Amino acid sequence: MTVVEDIKQRIDLVDFVSQTVKLKRTGKNYIGFCPFHSNTRTPAFVVFPDSQSWRCFGQCNEGGDLFGFVMKRDNLDFQEALKQLADKAGVTLKPQTQADQIHDQERNTLVDIMEAAVAFYRQQMLETTPGKKALDYLHKRGLTDETIKTWGLGYAPDSWSLLLDHLLAKGYTRELILQAGMLSQGDDGRVYDRFRDRLMFPIRGIFGRMAGFGGRVLNPDDVPKYLNSPATDLFDKGRLLYGLDQARSTMRAESQAVIVEGYMDVIGLHQAGFTNAVSPMGTALTEAQFQLVKKMTSNIILALDPDAAGQKATLRGLETARKAMDMGEQLSFDSRGLLKIERFLKADIRVTTLPDGKDPDEIVLENPEAWRKIIKEAKPLVNHVMDSLAEGQDLADPKVKRTIAEQVLPLIEDVGSSVEREAYRQRLAALLRLDSRSLQLNTATASHDRRKRNRVYDEGEGDQIRQPVTMAAKNRVLEEFTIKYLVLDPDSLYLIDRCLAQFELSELSLEDFQEGDMKHLFTLVKQSLSQSEYERSDFVEMNLGNDFELPEIPVVEAESLSDVQSRLFKDRLRSILRLRKNNIEDRLREIHYLQNETEEKAYSNDEANLLYLDLIESRRKIDQAMISPESGGSGKFQNIPGVYYAGRRYDGSSKK
Ligand code: CTP
Ligand code: MN
Repeated sequence: MTVVEDIKQRIDLVDFVSQTVKLKRTGKNYIGFCPFHSNTRTPAFVVFPDSQSWRCFGQCNEGGDLFGFVMKRDNLDFQEALKQLADKAGVTLKPQTQADQIHDQERNTLVDIMEAAVAFYRQQMLETTPGKKALDYLHKRGLTDETIKTWGLGYAPDSWSLLLDHLLAKGYTRELILQAGMLSQGDDGRVYDRFRDRLMFPIRGIFGRMAGFGGRVLNPDDVPKYLNSPATDLFDKGRLLYGLDQARSTMRAESQAVIVEGYMDVIGLHQAGFTNAVSPMGTALTEAQFQLVKKMTSNIILALDPDAAGQKATLRGLETARKAMDMGEQLSFDSRGLLKIERFLKADIRVTTLPDGKDPDEIVLENPEAWRKIIKEAKPLVNHVMDSLAEGQDLADPKVKRTIAEQVLPLIEDVGSSVEREAYRQRLAALLRLDSRSLQLNTATASHDRRKRNRVYDEGEGDQIRQPVTMAAKNRVLEEFTIKYLVLDPDSLYLIDRCLAQFELSELSLEDFQEGDMKHLFTLVKQSLSQSEYERSDFVEMNLGNDFELPEIPVVEAESLSDVQSRLFKDRLRSILRLRKNNIEDRLREIHYLQNETEEKAYSNDEANLLYLDLIESRRKIDQAMISPESGGSGKFQNIPGVYYAGRRYDGSSKK
């Protein structure tokens, strides 16, 4: 459930509207004077408890949900309405990140300072003698000039103040340069260049905005090997992934993300054409980083260094992992933690086996096919752990069998799906040459515990409470389906509108959406089409706010791409038609209610008739569009039942 749905469940629209509008109950619904236009004679404002929606049948001729009501009443934008309603409903919104809170302008200056540093470091590398050794080093590691440019690599000179002087000369203040993380400060308060005699890697956020730097030693005797920007307002290492801005679109398109250890691995892989790689920059993966990747795809492959403390610890228990990695408070992911994340995020996390002593960048630059093979052979986490534990062990030894089983079984218990659990159990049994029944050593209580733990995640099993699918819920699904694709590919709106026009239907508009959050997203999609500063989908994503999660694009096999795409497009078109038809039917029902079941007359009978005929004409066009092959229909006319209004069929004949 999204935050928006959660809020709607907690706040009843009738109660809420009643606080400011006097409502009278008539039949199932409530009616009153519309608060949005001056009216004293005809009450034309109706609240429908069943669908938790409202509509003004008078001058406004507008309607919507709880969010739409608050936005209109208090003149708020969607985000503001969300804050206000969340507060009222007692729903906590994701906290704004620190970066969100700093004043925009100041933040932009910090970004500018870092961009100026990127240019400075690059110029130092290309145009100075000491810089040449950095460039040579990169060439020696197999990087081309183009790659070096794409990633903005550079050289920080061996000096205490060259960068500082350069930035001061450009008019930036010492305080802000310090705040941007470009300086270090001694005990006496004096500041000096933080990065000296280092190869510089600019680190950017998901949309390419500068966040910080990593600096690698060139002199092997220097320590530390990599020096990062200090935690600044913009540099929050646990919420960044190196290379994500460049890997993002491939991750989506291929529906696969690869996580590697370091900067050079990411760059090497991208140069070799594997542009879905990112790096957590040496630290243990955080949940926030998984969430970032999950926005693009749920297929995540870990290609981490087998020698790294992290991976070794992966095979031990949680406690040892904590100690081995010495990470203090920071949340780390051992294999159990990873499984939880996998289940929680509904992700598929796989693990590669990297050949000893070689980093991905070396492997791929030597032989791209070798890398392809490694990725292809990535195993589900549980299998990976099983095989790693078994490697080099005498599996005939009962003690070895027991130790391995004891370590793997708790992992299997953590797996969300019962089918998968059984498959893992069988695989373990085969590996240890045991009868799989002897591995069911979990007592009844253990499995009861598991069920309890897994209940939130378990799909397809267990006792879920089924909610009746109301019309409103069905429409929400249709609205979501339509919006999802538009958010990912705003340009496709043109195509949709062209198709609708073919059927003499009006273009997709705000009126097609009743749900406040969907209206908000649709507005963003429209806005993205009328700006040119950002990629359209980036624009939408940037303005999305914290509480929306972008959907994934389904995986599409390359050969059948156009087929699948056209089917997808038809599906979208059909759901838009369906949505419109549902909306029209809702409108018809509402008018019917208003004319026949209340004492009030919002319309004269002639007006109501016209409106009715209008709606029915639109519905006829939609029905026709729905059976046409362009929208995936059969092409055959079906018998579309007529509607009756006030005892008369809309074609004028009377009902018997
Ligand atoms: N790292 C870091 N600080 C360190 C060491 C490592 O931030 N003191 C991070 C860097 O992001 C680095 C990654 O951890 O890229 C992996 O470290 P390591 O394997 O030591 O470096 P490589 O990426 O292999 O670098 P190179 O190939 O240049 O040796
Ligand atoms: Mn390396």
